[in-house]
Formats: sequence, C-alpha cells, structure tokens
Amino acid sequence: MTQLLSLARAAQLIGVTRGSLQEKIRNGELAAFDGMVTSEELLRVFPDIEIEVSGAFEHVTRIKEQAFGKRVRQRMLPSQEVLAQRLFAQSQELDSVRRHLARYHELLGRLSERVAAMGDAGRDLGVMLDDGLALVLGSQDKDDTVAVMDEILRVITAQVTVRPSGHEFFVEGSETILEAALHAGLAPAYGCGNGNCGLCKARVVSGETRQIRNTDYPLSEVERTQNYKLLCSHTAVSDLVIEMVEAQSAADIPEQQIVAKVKSVSPLDAHTFLLHLQTPRTNRLRFMAGQGVTLGYAGGSVDFRGDYPLASCPCDDRNLLFHVTRADAEAGDGFAARLFAGAVHAGDAVDVWGPYGDFVLKPESGRALAFLCCDAGFAPVRSLVEHSLALDVFPAITVCWAATRPGGQYLANQCRAWADALDGFDYLPVEAIDAATAGRAAVERLAGMRGLAECDIYVAGDEAFVAAAVADLNSAGVPEDRIAATVL
Ligand code: FES
Repeated sequence: MTQLLSLARAAQLIGVTRGSLQEKIRNGELAAFDGMVTSEELLRVFPDIEIEVSGAFEHVTRIKEQAFGKRVRQRMLPSQEVLAQRLFAQSQELDSVRRHLARYHELLGRLSERVAAMGDAGRDLGVMLDDGLALVLGSQDKDDTVAVMDEILRVITAQVTVRPSGHEFFVEGSETILEAALHAGLAPAYGCGNGNCGLCKARVVSGETRQIRNTDYPLSEVERTQNYKLLCSHTAVSDLVIEMVEAQSAADIPEQQIVAKVKSVSPLDAHTFLLHLQTPRTNRLRFMAGQGVTLGYAGGSVDFRGDYPLASCPCDDRNLLFHVTRADAEAGDGFAARLFAGAVHAGDAVDVWGPYGDFVLKPESGRALAFLCCDAGFAPVRSLVEHSLALDVFPAITVCWAATRPGGQYLANQCRAWADALDGFDYLPVEAIDAATAGRAAVERLAGMRGLAECDIYVAGDEAFVAAAVADLNSAGVPEDRIAATVL
C-alpha cells in the first residue's frame, strides 16, 4: 500500500540525512509532492535498504552518540502516560480500519455471489476477481515494512510541524517540545526554559500535548481558549502543528547576563583548556551556534574579562563549553591568564554577557558546508558542526583544521569520529608554520576535496589566517555571500 511520508520521517525510517534526500529531490532523482514522498518512490530510489526495527534506530543513535555529548542524548521511550495515549489513538485507528475492512469483506462476498449467479457469463469475471484478490492478499513487500516501521516510530516519537516556517522536528522520549526544537537545531523564542517567563508560548493548531513540568507563568483566558501552550513544559502526545516564533538571524537573539558556575576545567593539550560552565536551571543562555560571549569573574575587575566563542551546541543551553588558550593569556586576556595561573576552580561563579556576533549558519542555502579553521578557531566551528548535524539539511560537511604547531588539532578524535559516523563528512587536518601559510594551505586542501563553488565556506582563526584564506577564496572566484569569517 502506498504511503505518504514527510521528508523528516522518510529520512528517519531509512537512516539517511534529510539533507541527502533534499539533494536527490533537487537533482530530480527522487520525486516529492508538497514536501512528501511515497513509500514506493523511496523504495525505488533506495532498493537495497534493509528496513528493520533496529536498523534505522541504530544508525541514528550511532550518529547521535558520536556527534553529540552525553548530555544531549535523550533517546528514551516516552513516559508511560504518553505511550498509553499514543497506543490508545493507534487502537482507535486500527478499530476504524477493521470496521472498514469488515464492510469491504461483506461487499466482496456479495459481489462473488452475484458473479457466481451469472453462471457461464460470469466465469471470466470470477477468475479475474479471484486472481486479483490472491495477488493483493499474497503480496508482502518492503512497502508494507515501511508502513509498519512508520507506525512504530509514531508510537515512539511525535512529529511537529512549525508554522509559518514549515520546519519539522520530532519529540522523542520525555523531551519537552522546546527541548526537541532546540535539539533539532531550530531557534525558537524562549527565555527561562522553566515555565516562568512565558516567552516560549506557542499556539497548538492541531494535535494533542501533555504538561510534564509545573509552571508559574499564567496564560490568559484568551490564550487558553486559543490553545496556547508553554513549549518548555509540554510534550507532544500526537503529531502536532504549532505556530512558533523563531529567530531569523543573530539580531533576533537578545543580549543576556547570566551568572554561571564552573563545572570543570580540563586540559585539551599543553596549550588549551576546556572550560565547562553550567547555567542555573532557571536562567539558561539562548544563543546561536558560532556566536561568542564575554566571560568575567563575578564582581571582579575588568582585568578578569575575556571574549570567547562558544564551542558547544545551542541545543544544550545549560552546558556552555569554551576553548581557552595559552596564547589568549599571553596576549593579555585577564580571564585566560587567571585560568592558566590555576586560579579558576569548579564551583566558581563566572559572569556571562552575550551572545554577540553573526558568524552563524544560513540553513536556507541548502549548500554543502566547508569550515576552515586554525588552532582554537576550531571552537566556533565545533558549535557550528553540532548545529548543522542537528539541522540535518546539508548534503555534505568538510572541516579543514589547520594547526600552527605539530599535533595542534587538540580534538582530532572528535573530528575523526564525525567522519567515521556520518556519510558526507570529511575531516582534513593541515599543518603549517604560521597562520597565513595555514590559511592558504587550508583553501588549497579544500579545493582538492570538493568544488569551492558548491559550498558555503566558514573561516575562523586569527587575523593572518582569515585574511590569507579569504584572499585565496576571493581569487578562486568564490562569491562574497558564500564566505563568512570571524577573527578570534
Ligand atoms: S521559556 Fe520561560 S516559560 Fe517557557
């Protein structure tokens, strides 16, 4: 039986990225109708796929495990109540299908009797009817398996379609709708993440939600009548259509001031520390991947401040990661100097101001992504890569990480894990004697891997690296609007 599937659901079923399906649609290899594909068409283009209960899940889980930190993995079953509600809804559908089937059976019985009553005149018609029925009832093809898998996924996850953007994402496990939107790489409007501010309220156009967290924010009578819900405190019971405000650009993200606690300080190599800050549960940092903040000691003088790009994904807005380098400390950055002096400890309070900067993704382009970074320029690139994996709309990703000292790619294992786990992901390490040489070498290495004109290219590093890389990209004819750069 032909089944219509959303692109997001089709990608989830066969264990490929949404970006790769979109590319096939653009190339005319896969037919789509109003953003939907049929199960038959899916099997025509992917004839060798093995749709097994474990297959799709294992693939997606493997990607998530390798691509994301432990904290953002929440692929668990929904709560018993939500599961029970979804199973009840499916039972109702099944019951309706059974009643229809019984009527068709009755109809077929009467038809057979009529044909039999026609005697010889109806013999050919009778044979045709029997053959047709045998064919339909005897067929057990992959198309049926797609339908079965889709039903299973509908019990485990709920699909949310956002208006007016048309974005789609899945609510898994015991996630709130807000958490699921962030994990999917969207930029919904929100504030506290805890039911206090009301900034996450959105109208549920269709589908059923369930409140799973207490809230203090009172929705007005009119809002309740119009079915507004706080996304930070509700999960999806069924597939939903919601009207949700989303940030269109970095300018839509408000500046915030938060006091976070140092969770840990750990060396990445002899020149770089990983600083892990955790915000209060009720006051998280809303930011876009690629943006930065100012860090300072709570109540400290301006000497203890420093500007850093976030190295973590906006989908985990409580756990903020930074790569702080010895070069920062030597350049007079007060915060880095204090950290390298061993004076920053777990539990310390740190002021966070921001976010700032517009070194952010342009998901609407749909082009392949290439990231060129040098030394700690990897920090914003790590955030952007995690965000692009969550968005799942880019056909290919290349990270070219240039180091100006031997082995300076302090998270090379992370890059190799991405390349191993993800189709269309390439990691290109480069070493060079200085930043300017590194910029030229990175462009040359990228050009050897894929056509520069196919990509949106993001460049991050010190001034000499960015200047050299951008100059070579310009000389190679890459249009200005396909290059984004940040100087650290
Ligand atoms: S984010 Fe503040 S109430 Fe939901």
